Amino acid sequence: MDLTEAIYGRRATRAYTAAPVSKDLLENVIDAAIQAPSAVNEQPWDFTIIQNTSLLDRISAAAKAHMIETMPSGSFPEHLHETLGSPDFHIFYHAPVLITISARAGAWAIENATLAAENLMLAAHGQGLGSCWIGFAQRWLETADGKHALGVPDDFVPVAPIIIGHPAAPAGLVPRQPPQSRWID
Ligand SMILES: Cc1cc2nc3c(=O)[nH]c(=O)nc-3n(C[C@H](O)[C@H](O)[C@H](O)COP(=O)(O)O)c2cc1C
Repeated sequence: MDLTEAIYGRRATRAYTAAPVSKDLLENVIDAAIQAPSAVNEQPWDFTIIQNTSLLDRISAAAKAHMIETMPSGSFPEHLHETLGSPDFHIFYHAPVLITISARAGAWAIENATLAAENLMLAAHGQGLGSCWIGFAQRWLETADGKHALGVPDDFVPVAPIIIGHPAAPAGLVPRQPPQSRWID
């Protein structure tokens, strides 16, 4: 897929078919992820690939409970509190795969993992897959229980939980606001 088409066509996907994603496709998106730049070329990435539905259900429930328990009031719009409180809300939208990108803790862990994440999402789109970064999972995945569930080494920090799957419908338009910018000569 053409780069412009990938950048402009990728959208957050929140409805998936039940079809599993082949190992080849998952390996391809991870390979694209590790082509990202990294500070001092450390390449400090770690990928946890979860396809076990009951584990994904457990993480969804734990992450929702953790968010509700720990988020300061007023920090999120009211409708998000309601969404998280609903037993029917699955933070992973029943996607068949969750890939969590972690990075070795250090000055640029977030940047390193996030650049890999964008590559991964663009590559997923390029292969006809949908993806969505799930911030709702992050705070719980950072806890000791969360890291244990991911099997992440102690000196790594989970940064980017990304669901992947075959989209149930074509992506809708998500318009962009004009960029805030200033040109200084
Ligand atoms: C850091 C981050 C956290 C996000 N967390 C969630 C989330 O928990 N649930 C969700 O449905 N979408 C989540 N998203 C997806 C955004 O809502 C989405 O990217 C945004 O609405 C723009 O839509 P687009 O990706 O289709 O352009 C997250 C995106 C980012 C970058």
